[in-house]
Amino acid sequence: MRTQVGIVGAGPAGLLLAHLLEREGIESVVLEDRSRRYVEERVRAGLLEQGTADVLERSGVGERMRREGLVHHGIELRFDGASHRIAITDLTGRSIMIYGQQEVVKDLIAARLACGGPILFEVSDVALEGLDARSPAISATQAGTRIRIECDYIAGCDGTHGVCRGFIPGGVLTHFEREYPFAWLGILAKAPPVSHELIYSRHQRGFALYTMRSPSLTRAYLQCKPDEDLAAWSDRRIWDELHVRLQGGAKRLEEGEIVLRGVTPMRSYVCEPMQYGRLFLAGDAAHIVPPTGAKGLNLAVHDICVLAQALVAAYRGERSLLERYSERCLRRVWRAEHFSWWMTSMLHRFDGDDPFQERLQLAQLEYVTGSRAAATSMAENYAGLPYEEHGR
Ligand code: APR
Ligand code: PHB
Repeated sequence: MRTQVGIVGAGPAGLLLAHLLEREGIESVVLEDRSRRYVEERVRAGLLEQGTADVLERSGVGERMRREGLVHHGIELRFDGASHRIAITDLTGRSIMIYGQQEVVKDLIAARLACGGPILFEVSDVALEGLDARSPAISATQAGTRIRIECDYIAGCDGTHGVCRGFIPGGVLTHFEREYPFAWLGILAKAPPVSHELIYSRHQRGFALYTMRSPSLTRAYLQCKPDEDLAAWSDRRIWDELHVRLQGGAKRLEEGEIVLRGVTPMRSYVCEPMQYGRLFLAGDAAHIVPPTGAKGLNLAVHDICVLAQALVAAYRGERSLLERYSERCLRRVWRAEHFSWWMTSMLHRFDGDDPFQERLQLAQLEYVTGSRAAATSMAENYAGLPYEEHGR
């Protein structure tokens, strides 16, 4: 088999790349180790920066998002028993959108299949070769048969646990990493959200986030231990803990049946550079942020916009954008790494924190909610800084 761009991973990054290339007349093959059903049902974060929603809209996959997505103009920060609003749209002119990542994935798969573009699901043992040659190749096992796809370029969009990064020779990449001593216990519940906007709450017992998926589905997260035993969390215990940690609002949370629960680890990670020869890493394959600022999906979409534009230019004979791919992505990646780390540090309880540390967190929260300049800085990061002009 031969294609122009071989794409490993059918998450938002890989699928969006295939979609944007298709619109420019560039062929690709997507290889995914899970089933279609699995990737479409995997519940992840669900907050799109306006820039992300615009990319989906402009590229023709925004129709359902426009109908079903919930546009938000602010968020609440709770601490010390009181609630404070960050007026994102008033401060920045931009809004955010709640639309589940798996809905984005469903829309992109539908678009891909509608145009007849190949996605090979349930492949295993993906291997890359010839990354520094003119024609690299991907091999994989599909239904018991070994296949080999020759390409011009390979996009490693295979997420945190992907294999593509591992085919870059030793010594090329530098890894930057930070682990956090906690995780998030996330739930999805059949309960109407009582707050119109997301609530980020700092509490003595740990951080809590109240968010939603639709007018009848609440999503919420509780700071927990990295090795938290889910069996120890009955529905009753989860709701009690949410009531306590989210106190400070006018309305009591609506409870409902918890239909999904899971533990999300918290990690910051970046590899530099994000490219080697003809392999380009994008999204979670190259960087991870803790979910506090909801930047993971948004960064993946930005990487892909930069990569798609650079590939289009390369096929027109101009390779300099491809050579600068990593450098152009990493500026935004590091801004988001800082913002996610900053929000995480301001809102979570760290074991061993002394009263001095607590006072620092509260002083920071009071500043962010009390100063227009500080609130604007937070709001522009949260809503997502405008994309840089990529023509330069
Ligand atoms: N071979 C083929 N596919 C693979 C392999 C492999 N060896 N390893 C992983 N994959 C697939 C995964 O099953 C997944 O579908 O690659 C895809 C990677 O998708 P994501 O993990 O969703 O990563 P990405 O597309 O970069 O999107 C970033 O995802 O992790 C969230 O919160 C994060 O929102 C962010 C977004
Ligand atoms: C979500 O809706 O799942 C969500 C929202 C904001 C975050 C993280 C997750 O910071």
